Amino acid sequence: MKKFSITTFGCQMNVHDSEKIAGLLCKQGMSQTEDKKDADLIVFNTCSIRQKAEQKFLSELGKTKSLKRGMPTLKIAVTGCIAQQMGEKLFKKAPYVDYVLGTQNIHLISDLIKGNTCKSALNDNPFISEQKLPTLRKEKFRAWVSIMYGCNNFCSYCVVPYTRGRETCRSTENILKEIKELVGEGVKEVTLLGQNVNSYSSDTDFPGLLEKINAIPGLERLRFVTSHPKDLSDKLITSMESLDKVCEHIHLPLQSGSTRILSLMNRGYSYEEYKIKVDKLRQAIPDIAITSDIIAGFPHETDKDHEDTINALREIEFDGIFAFKFSLRPGTKASLMERHIPEHIKAERLSEILKLQDEITLMKNKELEGRAVDVLIEGISKTNPALQTGRTRGNKIVNFSVIDKERKFLLKEGSLTQVKIIRARRHSLEGDGVLKGST
Ligand code: 5AD
Ligand code: SF4
Repeated sequence: MKKFSITTFGCQMNVHDSEKIAGLLCKQGMSQTEDKKDADLIVFNTCSIRQKAEQKFLSELGKTKSLKRGMPTLKIAVTGCIAQQMGEKLFKKAPYVDYVLGTQNIHLISDLIKGNTCKSALNDNPFISEQKLPTLRKEKFRAWVSIMYGCNNFCSYCVVPYTRGRETCRSTENILKEIKELVGEGVKEVTLLGQNVNSYSSDTDFPGLLEKINAIPGLERLRFVTSHPKDLSDKLITSMESLDKVCEHIHLPLQSGSTRILSLMNRGYSYEEYKIKVDKLRQAIPDIAITSDIIAGFPHETDKDHEDTINALREIEFDGIFAFKFSLRPGTKASLMERHIPEHIKAERLSEILKLQDEITLMKNKELEGRAVDVLIEGISKTNPALQTGRTRGNKIVNFSVIDKERKFLLKEGSLTQVKIIRARRHSLEGDGVLKGST
């Protein structure tokens, strides 16, 4: 049996695409291996959101050159955002690459590796939103479900609209069908995926879609990423409040606390408008965890703009953030702007942001000390095999231990339980015992 390995870079969208690539290759009779040296086909599912991700891929790709020398039958495929952007230029840059597959052409991987005629697939695929691909999911109790592809927002720093194309939504019927099947197979938690889920529009709008999914018996938790602040409606807030399966967590990228910079970023909201939405969310759902993305050192960003971001972090008190130095992406509007910020200033600003947020994250986690929280068990803790690990509805990691006399874990992964939080750390919570029986 031939083997393949997949190395995934970037966001959840890519992680889920890799599950589809694995599903397609398994359907063709191959099996997956974690070890590249053991593989007949190595797939790199790439990301070009920041230069760092691109460099990481190129260095990994470089390492396969010698593998191929030792095993000339080895095939190398590049998929994802870099594949889409570089296209056939990749064959020139790395002649040992065999196949290049764009973001809308995953379904063609089997044809590509079977035939010898065509080595790349980079065209637009108008059927992307309705194709059902076999999917090899790593977890049995949790699943990603795509609800839309592409993005129409053209934030001035971002390559995604160029690498993933225009927004197309899956039909509500197909989404519901997939989720019902997943629940039938034992899935308890579903995360809906899209670059801007709030603008979902098909047979229904996004709140309508949530309502329909919420009604599926057997599903326990419903999450979604990513929300765009400009499209976060009062109707969605009301739905989140009233639908019991929708978890009390929203990832709502702010990007900057300066309205001037937000406008240069083409984000479509001011800081004040963003803050009003956060207040509404917290008023409707007092326990909601809010996380965000921040970019440090966007072109034109002055000390004052940076200070606005720092003040925003203090004022909003996010539960957690992902923060990045601005990375120039060729082809974007921001790449053509003047007044780029020197690297060392970007680095200083980023570390100030991260340091402050670390304190805030710990403080927010401490609010949970002494409280009982619902936890969906994911498995054994990676750092301490004596502990089990799971997540709260607010998406926070909880490590805890419930063992029987034989020191076996009492609760299986995928089961729900209640845990009392005894200590908060910055990146996780420590829990104690079960208060309520598992379900
Ligand atoms: N530079 C830095 N960060 C970026 N992001 C997107 N493009 C860039 C870029 N060019 C960040 C944004 C986005 C997250 C997924 O990645 O914060 O929300
Ligand atoms: Fe990129 Fe903006 Fe689209 Fe998000 S909403 S993918 S940041 S263009």
